[in-house]
Amino acid sequence: MSGTSKLTVVGAGAVGSSVAYAALIRESARDIALYDIAPEKTEAEVLDLAHGSFFAGSSQITGGSDIAVAADSDIVVITAGAKQRPGQTRLELAATNARIMGTLMPQLIDVAPDAVYVIVTNPCDVLTLLADESSGLPAGRVFASGTALDSSRLRWEIARRAGVSTSSVHAQIVGEHGDSEFPVWSTATIGTVPVLEWRGEDGTGFDRAELERIAVDVRDAAYTVIRGKGATNYAIGLSSARIVEAVLRDEHAILPVAPVLRGEHGIDGVALSVPCVLGRHGARPIAGTPFDADERAALQRSAESLRAVAADLRG
Ligand code: LAC
Repeated sequence: MSGTSKLTVVGAGAVGSSVAYAALIRESARDIALYDIAPEKTEAEVLDLAHGSFFAGSSQITGGSDIAVAADSDIVVITAGAKQRPGQTRLELAATNARIMGTLMPQLIDVAPDAVYVIVTNPCDVLTLLADESSGLPAGRVFASGTALDSSRLRWEIARRAGVSTSSVHAQIVGEHGDSEFPVWSTATIGTVPVLEWRGEDGTGFDRAELERIAVDVRDAAYTVIRGKGATNYAIGLSSARIVEAVLRDEHAILPVAPVLRGEHGIDGVALSVPCVLGRHGARPIAGTPFDADERAALQRSAESLRAVAADLRG
C-alpha cells in the first residue's frame, strides 16, 4: 500500500501474532509493530514473521517489549490479556483484563496519542467502555472489534447452506461480542433476496428453526473452537486486519464494531456492536440502521447485560 501507515499489535499471543500475520500478508499497513511485555517471545514472533517477508508484500515488521515500539502508530490493536478457558464466558475475564487494560492504555496513549484504538481483548465491549472513559479520546477513536468476526461466521454459515459465496451474503450480528449477541434477520439478504424468501436449486430455503440454529452456532462458535484447540486465532486475525485496512485507508467501509454509543438506537454509555462507518476518525455508528421490534428489544437486553458487568467492575 502507498504512503505511511503504522499498525501496532499489542500482545504476542495466538491472537496478536495472528493479527500481525494477517496484516502482513494482506499488506494492511506499511509498518507493523508487535509489542508484548515478554521480550523473548515477542522477538521470536517478529523474527518468524520477518523471515517470510520475501513471500509477503512490502510491509515492515518490527517489535519488542519496550512500549516505544508503538510510537506514532496510526492504529493500535490490543489483544493482550488472559484468554478464555474452555467453558468460560468472555465476561468472566472482565476483572483480570480490565486491570491489564488500565495499565496499558495510558502508556499507549502517551506514545501514540493520535492513534485509533481497536480492543480485541475480551470482554472487548466492556473493556472498550473502560478504555473510552479513562482515555478521554474523541468519540469513536476507541472501539471493540466486536461482532465483525461473528458477522463473518454468520455469513459463512448462511453461504454454505445456500451454496453461494460468503461475500454475497449480507447479514450482521449485533450487540455484545458474546452470549447476548444476535443476527439482524429483518434486513439479511442473500444477493438481494431476503434470507427468509431464499430458495435454493432444490426449492428449499430457511425456516425460523434453521435460522435459530444458525444464530446459536454463531454465538457458540468460539466455545466450539476453544474446546478443540484452546483458542481462536485465525478468524480474529483476519477480521482485525480487515478493520485495520478500513481505518488506515479511510475507506468509510461499514462493519459492525463496538464504539461507546451516545444515544444511538436509544443506548447511551455502553459499547456494543452496531453497523459503523470505519475510517481514520475511528468508528461512527449509523444511527438510521433499521431494526424490527424484536431486534430493538434484543439490542436493549444486550446493552443492559453489558451495563451490569461494567457496573460490577466499577464496584
Ligand atoms: C472469538 C474471540 C476472539 O470470538 O472472542 O473468536
